[in-house]
Amino acid sequence: MAKDFSSFLSLEGATRKKSPLKSLIPLMHGDMISLGGGLPHPSTFPFHSLSAQITSMRPAAHQQKAVVAAASSDTVTVPLAPQPDKIESLTASLQYGIGTGIKSLRDFCREHVRLMHQPQYQDWDVILSAGNTDAFSKVVGLLCNRGDKILVEEWTYPTALETLDPHGIGHVAVEMDGEGMTATGLRRILDNWGSTPEQANDPKPRVVYLIPTGQNPTGATMSVKRRMDILAVAQDHDLILIEDDPYYYLQFHVEGGSWMPTLLSMDTDGRVIRLDTFSKTLAPGCRVGYMSMNARFCDTMQYHNEVTIQQPSGFSQAILAEMLVSHWGQEGYTRYLTDNVRTEYLKRSQYLQTELKTHINPKLASFIEPSAGMFIWIKIHVDQHPRYKTVKDSALMLDLFRKCVENNVLMVPGWQFSCKPKPQDVDPADVMNCWFDEDANYLRATFAYASFEQMKEASIRFGQTLDQFFSA
Ligand SMILES: Cc1ncc(COP(=O)(O)O)c(C=O)c1O
Repeated sequence: MAKDFSSFLSLEGATRKKSPLKSLIPLMHGDMISLGGGLPHPSTFPFHSLSAQITSMRPAAHQQKAVVAAASSDTVTVPLAPQPDKIESLTASLQYGIGTGIKSLRDFCREHVRLMHQPQYQDWDVILSAGNTDAFSKVVGLLCNRGDKILVEEWTYPTALETLDPHGIGHVAVEMDGEGMTATGLRRILDNWGSTPEQANDPKPRVVYLIPTGQNPTGATMSVKRRMDILAVAQDHDLILIEDDPYYYLQFHVEGGSWMPTLLSMDTDGRVIRLDTFSKTLAPGCRVGYMSMNARFCDTMQYHNEVTIQQPSGFSQAILAEMLVSHWGQEGYTRYLTDNVRTEYLKRSQYLQTELKTHINPKLASFIEPSAGMFIWIKIHVDQHPRYKTVKDSALMLDLFRKCVENNVLMVPGWQFSCKPKPQDVDPADVMNCWFDEDANYLRATFAYASFEQMKEASIRFGQTLDQFFSA
């Protein structure tokens, strides 16, 4: 069983209770006549069925091996009325729910987590979210009070920091290397907590936020050993780990279906909260994800859902359930992840890397090959610039960024992922005039979206821009 982490709940988390109104919903079955809950009458729903054309995952009939039938599609339909042994009717999915997500989709996600991650304690559970952005903000509410600080990777997903700031929750940057957050850096900060004047009055952090696979923005993926070491620090210092893992299925070197073990899969205490999303595997507009954690936390997340999103959109849930539960099944979904999603990003990643290597002078910029995710974190060797040391690195980087824009090649400025406080006198939205953080000598490129021709052209333009910039 999970350890008791109730003392980690924030004031908000500890105060959340089950909605009494929602407690009536499970009683509405069998012979019960409900004159209770204010559910709208389904005859007023103007939707008679919901259909979609989806990628077929049926094995090609003439082939022995299970392979994706090339470019074929299936039509799936969710009818209005209940059908025996099928997923919920459209009427049910479009109705108010109980904050967990519809049963068939939640069960599918729970089973997927069990198959993929095999959590090592019994009382874990899964609940649906409206994606990882929604889930993260709820986890922060669950665990953090104003004035707390959480530990984050030194380059991190900006939305996470933007979630913390308005709640008065601070962050502490932990050093990274090619494998993401270092366990030694994490331990050092915690072992020495309180030793600096700034930390003297701050409570010791109890929560770590990390993106272990195909990290955003660095593309770093933690090795198995790194994951074990991070977990060991978490046990020694009694920490909760938030494992935000949207790029987990974009692992390029999966052989024989052996995906990287997750922090959740190694956790014997119930201290890992894992966030999964369908955004990168199916489509971001679904706005559906799922969170896995100890049952105590999971209940509180349900109460939070009850008073915010209630549950993800009924349309999304209905069509996802029809596709995943009734058509693809666990096997088809896993095959889709491996053969379609992963393979496509592997191809794209290799293509952009090759083009960049062909067109960039390695003395001027370099990158570490990502083994997962969507990103290449390009380090600019500003020390090779003729004006190095006579002007600030940030001025050089801003100059380079402007030249890239002039030459029609766009990448995200490295400072956008910085954990350092933004100076008051800069407007971060004014990207053409903003570059803070003297260490942010990076640009983040993605191979996820542009066409192959565009990636080639962008690499040529970037290479030329670098040559031009470094010769000035
Ligand atoms: C680390 C990280 N977390 C979360 C998200 C957003 O996920 P979702 O679409 O599920 O809200 C992203 C997307 O860019 C991301 O990079």
